Amino acid sequence: TDAVGRLHFDLTAQTGTVDVVPGTPTETWGFNGPYLGPTIVAASGDDVQVDFHNGLKEPTTVHWHGMHLPARADGGPHQMVAPGDDWSPRWTVDQPATTLWYHPHPHGETERHVGRGLAGMFIVRDEAEAALSLPRDYGVDDIPVIVQDVRLDADGQLVSDTRDYIGPVGDRLLVNGTVGPSLAVTTDVVRLRLLNASPARIYNFALSDDRDLALIGTDGGLLERPFATRAVQLSPGERAEVLVRMAPGERITLQSRDVDLGGGPGLGGLNGARDSFDVLELVASDALNSVGTVPQTLVPMERLDDLDATGERRFVLDGKQINQQQMDLGRIDEVVTVGDTEVWDVRNNMALPHSFHVHDVQFQLLSIGGDPPPPELAGYKDTILLRPNTDYRLIMRFTDYTDPRTPYMYHCHLLQHEDQGMMGQFVVV
Ligand code: C2O
Ligand code: CU
Ligand code: CU
Repeated sequence: TDAVGRLHFDLTAQTGTVDVVPGTPTETWGFNGPYLGPTIVAASGDDVQVDFHNGLKEPTTVHWHGMHLPARADGGPHQMVAPGDDWSPRWTVDQPATTLWYHPHPHGETERHVGRGLAGMFIVRDEAEAALSLPRDYGVDDIPVIVQDVRLDADGQLVSDTRDYIGPVGDRLLVNGTVGPSLAVTTDVVRLRLLNASPARIYNFALSDDRDLALIGTDGGLLERPFATRAVQLSPGERAEVLVRMAPGERITLQSRDVDLGGGPGLGGLNGARDSFDVLELVASDALNSVGTVPQTLVPMERLDDLDATGERRFVLDGKQINQQQMDLGRIDEVVTVGDTEVWDVRNNMALPHSFHVHDVQFQLLSIGGDPPPPELAGYKDTILLRPNTDYRLIMRFTDYTDPRTPYMYHCHLLQHEDQGMMGQFVVV
């Protein structure tokens, strides 16, 4: 139901195994199971309490990626949970319907924890989304698609190398924990919630027969109107909601396609961008239920205006650093005044891709390399792929939740880079 209420969720981090290769159990980590975690669904306005238990043999955290919430509940590297301990953050969901996710954020270890499978989806619903004729029957026509690539050693165990600058980019794909998955489609329109939960791989999602996907939402919510596109690119941490229209009896495959991310000869294929592979087969039944006409318009969006900005900050990503500094848990890099709207001018100063993620807020893009953002990047975002040698101007508003002592993070979401120190801290006061 969409009734506003008090919701309570139990999450336990634990170890398990997945047969990535038949007959060879690969050791994995998950929430409440061997791999990934349950999808949490809450409505805007709900009071949420999560009781997290760390059943691992090492400290970890649970971060609510994309959630607007108090810094103490954010689950970043300052909210470490010791082995065997519990942590019970509470907050009120206060943002539009969208697809968020949760994952650990222990400083220097995030790639290893997420890459072993500690990740789950967090779906926010609201009345505006409920009023649209969109597929919203979870597991029937509203489907999570969580992609993680993995690399196995000779014993079939996961390879993780946090010190490697780019990789490890995996050579096998798990989709919701399944190898080579197929989805039985029973409706004429199906909604896929794509989540790139991979450490480093950048995906370029498209359908096997090149038909259009209707992009309806990005990290922070629905777009103003569906955008028809052949391909949707997602760097680690990013999400997209797409609609796929199917005819009775049809079979098509969601794929990830070769894309050149720029940077010059030999560099365009970093982060696996030059690979092409199947992600999820969609098999429509011979009779499909109709979900109704896809709406022409989705939700109205207030455009943030740089004339309203009280300040501008500049962030340059280079090497393993932001603004020539590596992450220091004891240093507050930026102090933001509550109520302010700020422009963050983010520059990727390298010939290879990065991504940029800001906790607590959803931002809008003012420009990319001086040009207005394309339609697929016109909505709310919390993570953005940074192309080589390019400037991104972001605008965001810090509405509430002051805490002078507990910082939020901003960082590259290529998890190796984050772990190596490409991260900074801000407080809202
Ligand atoms: Cu998805 Cu700071 O994290
Ligand atoms: Cu985050
Ligand atoms: Cu990076």
